[in-house]
Amino acid sequence: MIQTSKRPTPRCFYIVSLSLFISSLYITLSFGGLLPSFLEPSAKIYEESYSDAETLDFLIIGDWGNAGKGRDLKHGPQANVSKAMEFVANQHNSKFIVNVGDNFYKRSAKDYQGILSVNDSKWEEIWLNVYNSTKLKRLPWYTVAGNHDWYTNITAQIEYSLTINQRFFFPSLFYVRSSLFGKEIKTKVVWIHIDSNIFYYNIDDIIEIKMEGLKTNLLNFGLHTQQAIEDKLKWIEQRLIENQDADYIFVVGHHPLIGVCSQVNNMPRLLELLERYYVSAYFAGHNHVLEYKAPTKFSPVAFFISGAGCKTGDGCEGRDWGMPKGTFGFVHANIKEETMDFEFIDATKLNKQSAGEIVYSGTINSRSYWYPKI
Ligand SMILES: *[C@@H]1O[C@H](CO)[C@@H](O)[C@H](O)[C@H]1NC(C)=O
Ligand SMILES: *[C@@H]1O[C@H](CO)[C@@H](O)[C@H](O)[C@H]1NC(C)=O
Ligand SMILES: *[C@@H]1O[C@H](CO)[C@@H](O)[C@H](O)[C@H]1NC(C)=O
Ligand SMILES: *[C@@H]1O[C@H](CO)[C@@H](O)[C@H](O)[C@H]1NC(C)=O
Repeated sequence: MIQTSKRPTPRCFYIVSLSLFISSLYITLSFGGLLPSFLEPSAKIYEESYSDAETLDFLIIGDWGNAGKGRDLKHGPQANVSKAMEFVANQHNSKFIVNVGDNFYKRSAKDYQGILSVNDSKWEEIWLNVYNSTKLKRLPWYTVAGNHDWYTNITAQIEYSLTINQRFFFPSLFYVRSSLFGKEIKTKVVWIHIDSNIFYYNIDDIIEIKMEGLKTNLLNFGLHTQQAIEDKLKWIEQRLIENQDADYIFVVGHHPLIGVCSQVNNMPRLLELLERYYVSAYFAGHNHVLEYKAPTKFSPVAFFISGAGCKTGDGCEGRDWGMPKGTFGFVHANIKEETMDFEFIDATKLNKQSAGEIVYSGTINSRSYWYPKI
């Protein structure tokens, strides 16, 4: 079956979001202190329709923002991960990349965390010039923020998406997408992209110097208060209720919800929502590993950690499967009407074709398995 490559149908949201952006910038500049509207969650759904796709194929990458140059490669481990991503995306005609955050790290003593503005050279050095092979450079990156993105200027990343390059898709901190594909274009996937920093951190506990920016930014935007946390949880719950007709619901955040890692501050409340509303999977990073926790008869949610885009570290106690420290890689997934197949790809040892090694694979069910439609 030959599939022709087709990009998601463009909608008029570019113009809408641009004018929203300009008016919100105006509000911030003139009144100061008010939360810019592009940081606020919106009920608007960004719709994609893949009329040529029998199945919906995508990659998940996180924590990729260049931890430092490798001995042999200008872009460090990022470059090998990018090669393996190109191989997989080509082979399966992947449609997009789900980016779970930590987009820009500090690379050396002279460097800084995150980015400073829409014109920062890191856009080219760490993103455009790294994932720039034939297939990859055409794919949109559906983005959420990691903690490192908050350390300097998070709004500059949103502004870049809204005014410079929409392929880095990040219209606000919280947003919802819906993708339709398959027979009669009827299989519906709903994606709820969230900012988990708000639930993971309690600003009173932040003492590390390098995290001062996160604290200041959360404070400036008023996102540290209990009311703000309640509002965001309520917003997520409302989106979950509204989208109960979806065949799959995926929630995308930065911080993990596996085992002991899920017990931090307000994260258990997020976990409880995902289970209550039959979310199919939660995609995150933050732990610099590849790891997985399968659904059980008590919890329909599958948990994926894809946080090995350029850094390596330890995983969570309580996972079902995980790679050892030292692995770099990403997740590849393919959604069908009834099931989603997934593979964890280790890009640490590339073969001659630049393909990474599949180190773990599995299948999860659509929501009808857990929650039959009436
Ligand atoms: C970015 O560069 C453009 C073109 O040089 C300039 O007009 C704009 O003011 C710059 N923005 C920032 C935030 O530096
Ligand atoms: C990708 O970026 C590198 C710089 O890192 C550059 O040398 C190369 O020409 C670029 N390739 C494409 C296809 O744009
Ligand atoms: C952060 O970025 C925003 C949007 O690009 C810009 O308006 C603001 O001045 C920047 N803030 C700092 C402190 O540089
Ligand atoms: C990249 O892959 C090549 C080929 O497998 C390997 O020799 C090299 O060490 C890898 N580099 C990094 C930084 O992982």
